[in-house]
Amino acid sequence: MSMHNPALYQKFISFQKRDAWNMLKNFGSKMKWKNNASVIDLGSGDGFVTSILKEHLPPDFKRVIGVDISKEMVEFANEKYGDERTSFTIMDIGGKVPEGLEGGFDHAFSSYAIQFIPDQEAVFKNINSVLKDSGSCLLTFLGKNMIFDTFAHMGQSAKWRTLMENDLEKISVRYYKMENAAGEVKRIMEENGFSDVHVENNDMFFEYEALEQLTSMVESGNLFHLPPDRLREFIQDFSKVIVDATKIEKVAGKPEAVRFRYKQLIAYGVKQ
Ligand SMILES: C[S@@+](CC[C@H](N)C(=O)[O-])C[C@H]1O[C@@H](n2cnc3c(N)ncnc32)[C@H](O)[C@@H]1O
Repeated sequence: MSMHNPALYQKFISFQKRDAWNMLKNFGSKMKWKNNASVIDLGSGDGFVTSILKEHLPPDFKRVIGVDISKEMVEFANEKYGDERTSFTIMDIGGKVPEGLEGGFDHAFSSYAIQFIPDQEAVFKNINSVLKDSGSCLLTFLGKNMIFDTFAHMGQSAKWRTLMENDLEKISVRYYKMENAAGEVKRIMEENGFSDVHVENNDMFFEYEALEQLTSMVESGNLFHLPPDRLREFIQDFSKVIVDATKIEKVAGKPEAVRFRYKQLIAYGVKQ
């Protein structure tokens, strides 16, 4: 899956930005940032969260490279956030590691990207392979959440089933239905060359000022590769289903606002 509308994705303050900030604040000392560090941001998207990452690095960092499968995202991020020490390039985190990136980084970071990749063993192998020995990683990604609950519901309807089924299978995050998602992530990491592994699976929510902000994020991702007219219709139906079936909550005293609930997985580890 790749995201195609960076400008729309960037428009609203989101749980991704808030969580990246908090995670970097809370895990900063555990990361033991190296001097002159080389850092990779996996699934860097529009680059905004990469700029949050940079604010938490020691100022003498050597380079930050954001990688993403989407050409549109990489171009947008290079234009908006690229500089002498910051660049963005195309890479499929679940595919083959491009030449020049193997063993090149002291730290790997990722915010809300790796849940979309079906082959999680490949993901963690690749993260391990881009790190230098004793390099550390800090990753956050989605477990069960109201967006996927809504997709799952829509994927059963006659109207959307055929259009969604292929991608739904691919993107139905591996940890979505797992009781012990944290244990599973820990197992995969330890089997793929990480030690000192710490995984959390936190119950979270984020209040959007209006449902439209959440649906715009879903629209910007266009996870089911719908043509523009179908995408509009899909988002209209999504907006109904997330209220009627998923029962996204209202916020007292704020008639437009909604409370999006999700599980946040956080994983930390050191390359053995
Ligand atoms: C929800 S966005 C997160 C962007 C940014 N890290 C943030 O926190 O705002 C997910 C990003 O992961 C990227 N992505 C999805 N699958 C990927 C893959 N296999 N390899 C690299 N990037 C991928 C998408 O293109 C998208 O930009």
